[in-house]
Amino acid sequence: MSTTVPSSGPAAPASAGAPDTHEAVADSVYASDTPARRGPLRTASWGADPYANALRTGRGPLFLRRSDGWLLPLDVERWCSDAGSADLSALHRCEGPVLDIGCGPGRLVAELASLGHRALGIDVSEAAVARTRGLGGAALLRSVFDPLPGEGRWGTLLLLDGNIGIGGDPAALLDRAADLLGAGGLLIAETAPVDLDERVRVRLDDGRGGPDGRTAPVAAGDEVAEPFLWARIGTPALLRHARTGGWRTADQWGAEGRTFVSLRRPERERSARTSSQSAESANSAPVISSQLPR
Ligand SMILES: C[S@@+](CC[C@H](N)C(=O)[O-])C[C@H]1O[C@@H](n2cnc3c(N)ncnc32)[C@H](O)[C@@H]1O
Repeated sequence: MSTTVPSSGPAAPASAGAPDTHEAVADSVYASDTPARRGPLRTASWGADPYANALRTGRGPLFLRRSDGWLLPLDVERWCSDAGSADLSALHRCEGPVLDIGCGPGRLVAELASLGHRALGIDVSEAAVARTRGLGGAALLRSVFDPLPGEGRWGTLLLLDGNIGIGGDPAALLDRAADLLGAGGLLIAETAPVDLDERVRVRLDDGRGGPDGRTAPVAAGDEVAEPFLWARIGTPALLRHARTGGWRTADQWGAEGRTFVSLRRPERERSARTSSQSAESANSAPVISSQLPR
């Protein structure tokens, strides 16, 4: 997403009907469809089938569907391609070992490895992690809010393609990022190229017209894309949040219509929560030493 999408301008209205109609249809479909008849439905957010299917084929359509019915197109084709010049403008600013948060199908991790960086991708989607590893990149199936290897020692964190929206609370994500970085570490974030600061409730939608964005027909074993919180934020608002959290602005730039900022980690005590997570992850993380920052 991006810059991808969310950012690149106004969201497109859902093509079919009012959101309330979709929700009502979906509710009635699910209410009348017993698990015994349909089989258990698995639920997930980014782990859901629409995202996995898009990564498997390397193409959309794929949208984040806001609860008011607006569709935010996701740039699956770009994510599944090689890194482009705007990506490179961010990657060339990376310092030390790099953690790509929400690595998706892995173009950035693969490019970083070819540039000689020690890089690890993390993602909550199995399909994304598998595809990243398929490109030869290191990746873990892990949320950014889970215990992670190398906490407090990463040189650079990447939050590109709209990933500053993860969790729907950029200030909380900045806080978590500060705990992951080493002293003087760099956070590179892509922002929406318009001045906005919004938190939205969304679900993945493959645009195939299933009720409430669910792929139709719903079959046994299908995953239902469950709603989750997401944020879209432009540079001015991100810099405001960053200043409040004690971050220093290192750089701001644009490339190919995408906008980026880099921020220096605040000098502050690590949170107690993260100190204990750090110890826990050092003991239990299933990673090889080459995935850890030195
Ligand atoms: C907007 S897409 C970005 C795609 C990616 N940057 C790329 O190059 O293809 C958001 C990505 O973040 C992942 N994600 C969502 N929540 C996450 C979390 N809490 N921790 C880690 N990754 C997450 C999603 O699975 C998805 O791959």
